Amino acid sequence: MRRIFSGVQPTGNLHLGNYLGAIRNWVRLQSEFEDCLFCVVDLHAITVWQDPGQLTANTREVAAAMIAAGIEPERNIVFNQSQVPAHAELAWILACVARMGWLNRMTQFKEKAGKDKENAAVGLFAYPVLMAADILAYQATHVPVGEDQKQHLELARDIAQKFNNDFGVAFFPAPEPLIFGAATRVMSLRDGTKKMSKSEASDYSRINMTDDADAIAQKIRKARTDSDPLPTGTAGLEGRPEAANLIGIYAALADTTPEDVLARFGEKQFSDFKQHLAELAVAKLGPIQDEMRRLLADPGHVDRVLARGAERARALAAPVLSEVRRIVGFLGPKGS
Ligand code: TYM
Repeated sequence: MRRIFSGVQPTGNLHLGNYLGAIRNWVRLQSEFEDCLFCVVDLHAITVWQDPGQLTANTREVAAAMIAAGIEPERNIVFNQSQVPAHAELAWILACVARMGWLNRMTQFKEKAGKDKENAAVGLFAYPVLMAADILAYQATHVPVGEDQKQHLELARDIAQKFNNDFGVAFFPAPEPLIFGAATRVMSLRDGTKKMSKSEASDYSRINMTDDADAIAQKIRKARTDSDPLPTGTAGLEGRPEAANLIGIYAALADTTPEDVLARFGEKQFSDFKQHLAELAVAKLGPIQDEMRRLLADPGHVDRVLARGAERARALAAPVLSEVRRIVGFLGPKGS
């Protein structure tokens, strides 16, 4: 069985990196895999403070973005994580399998907790264990993500393997990361050495999925660059992170390679290239944004899609969890 699981946090500011690094790839994979689960990970979101009303709105917005981008909710399972208790239940069991030392090495925790580690939520530290539970609750075999999630996926594989070893079973498959496309790591428009992120203070650092055409054009125009013209080959992008980022974004949006983009724009000035990039971004994102707006005008419909997805997800996770309980030795009614 080949089964996909992936997720996005409903923490606001869904951006071009989330789209190019993850959601767009899911749209392609949905026809290649029998089962795909696409999850709005609201339990992960609350590892840092979320305003409750905003969390609800952001959950709908991420679901709408997935559907608007082309994820078919009839063919796939689209749901929000908190509607399926198996995630939290398995996360506890796996928290007793994972080791402190493994989690201490997670770079995302170090980045997010910053200097004040003592004041970070326990859940923020345990975040990658919940992520392992998301995947393993469905015995998913493939996980399409952006480059920044690679370390978390390696941890999920280690946890799966340790569970199997500890209990002497061959129960959890080691999930494979799927990281592909020209934009696996979209960088900030303000600093080509930093990843584009939802939490960056400056809105000019990212293109949000809700930005209108003017905002997109303005952000691209203002994006930081160096003063040289574009090189004619990718070797010339070395040491030029901002140029490499914009070329990568163009290639991903146009569904081509950086080599092709440079064959067209090599030796041109950034001002010229940026104008083409802005037009392309607006042309590609505009229809998705229109569809998102249409979907969000009827929140009841989005809620029903998520409820139906959650029902199907619960049905898939139930036999896995019941087997996990049996393997661990928990006493309970037969078949529960
Ligand atoms: P989140 O919401 O931070 O990111 C969602 C997806 O977007 C990708 N991504 C990027 N890709 C390219 N360039 C960027 N600048 C960029 N920023 C984000 C992320 O790699 C991710 O694929 N922990 C996950 C959510 C999660 C999950 C899971 C994923 C929870 N459980 C189980 C897979 C499987 C996350 O970072 O979400």
